[in-house]
Amino acid sequence: MSVILAIESSCDDTSVAICNNGKITANVIANQTIHQNYGGVIPELASRVHQQNIVPAVQQALINAKVTKQDINAVAFTRGPGLLGSLLVGVSFAKSFALALNVPLISVNHMHAHILAHFIDDPKPSFPFLCLTVSGGHTQIVLVKDYFDMEIVGETLDDAAGEAFDKTAKLLALPYPGGPLVDKHAQHGNPLAFKFAEPQIADLNFSFSGFKTSILYFIRKQEKENPDFIAENLDDICASVQYSIVQILMNKLKKAAKQYGIKEIAIAGGVSANSGLRNGLQQAADELGWNIYIPAFQYCTDNAGMIAIAGYHKFLKKDFVGQDVSPMARMEF
Ligand code: KG4
Ligand code: ZN
Repeated sequence: MSVILAIESSCDDTSVAICNNGKITANVIANQTIHQNYGGVIPELASRVHQQNIVPAVQQALINAKVTKQDINAVAFTRGPGLLGSLLVGVSFAKSFALALNVPLISVNHMHAHILAHFIDDPKPSFPFLCLTVSGGHTQIVLVKDYFDMEIVGETLDDAAGEAFDKTAKLLALPYPGGPLVDKHAQHGNPLAFKFAEPQIADLNFSFSGFKTSILYFIRKQEKENPDFIAENLDDICASVQYSIVQILMNKLKKAAKQYGIKEIAIAGGVSANSGLRNGLQQAADELGWNIYIPAFQYCTDNAGMIAIAGYHKFLKKDFVGQDVSPMARMEF
C-alpha cells in the first residue's frame, strides 16, 4: 500500500498530485497568470507565486484524493531541470513535509516524468518505445528501455519546438504562452498558404533557432508590402507555421522509428497537446502501423501527476534521497 504526495514547481505552474497504489487520485494545478503581462515567465515572480500557491495546492490535493497527511507514505518532488528559484520552493517544501511526517523523499527528473506520464492511464506503451518529448524548454527523441533506463537519441541543438510556437505567437501579437493560440488559429487556416524551409540537421537532432528567424524575416517582408498582412492572414500564418513545425518533428520521429525498428511511439510534453502534431502522429500510425500513445491533456503540460507516477515507480524500488538533496537547474538526463 502506498500513498505518494508529489510536487512540481519547475517553471510557472505549482502542481500537487497524489498517487494511491499506482492510481492518480488528485492532480491540482495552480497556473500563474501574472507572466502574461510580461510576454514570458519572469523567474523571480514565478518563485514568489509558488510560495503563495503551494500550501493551498497541497490542501486541495489531499481533499480531492480523500486522504489525510497521516496517510502519506512518501513525498516526491521535481529536482530539475527548471528555474532554480521555482524548484527551490518545491524542493524545500517537499523536504520539510517529509521531515515533519517522517516519510522518505523521492527525487524526480522532470524530463523522465514527462515520459512516465504514459504510465498513468491505459493504454500504456510497452518497452522499448520511442518518446518525442516536446515542451517549452526541450525537444528530445528518447529511447525508453525501462522506467528509468532511457537514452536521448536526438535533441535540439538550440531552441525547443515550444519556443518556436511561442515566438511565432509573439510576432503575431498573441498573448503569452502563445502555443495553444497558434494551434487554435491554425485550425481555421490553410497549412500550405506559406512555405518555411525545413532545417537540414544531421542525425536525429533538431534546430529551431534559424527557423524562428526565418518566420521573423518573412513577416517583416510581408508587412513592408502590406501593413495589414498579419491581420488579414492570421489563420493561414498559424496553420503554415504549425504545419512546418509538425513536419520537422514527424520527419525525425519517423527516421528514429525506422532506425531502431520500433513501432511503439509516444509523445509527451506541452506541445503534445498540439492538434497538428496529434493528427500527424495518427497519420503516421495509419501509414506505418505504429501503436501511438498520447497522455491525457492534463498530463501533457507541466503537472505533478507525472511526478507522482514517477515517484511511485521509484517507491517500489525504495529509491529514496536524503535531506541534503538540493534542486538542479540543469539536471543530467
Ligand atoms: O511541458 P510544458 O507545459 O512546460 C515546459 O516544461 O516547457 O510545455 C509548455 C509549452 C509552451 O511552449 C506552450 O506554448 C506549448 O507547450 N504548448 C503548445 C500547445 N499547448 C502547449 N504548443 C502548441 N500547441 C498547443 N496546443
Ligand atoms: Zn515540462
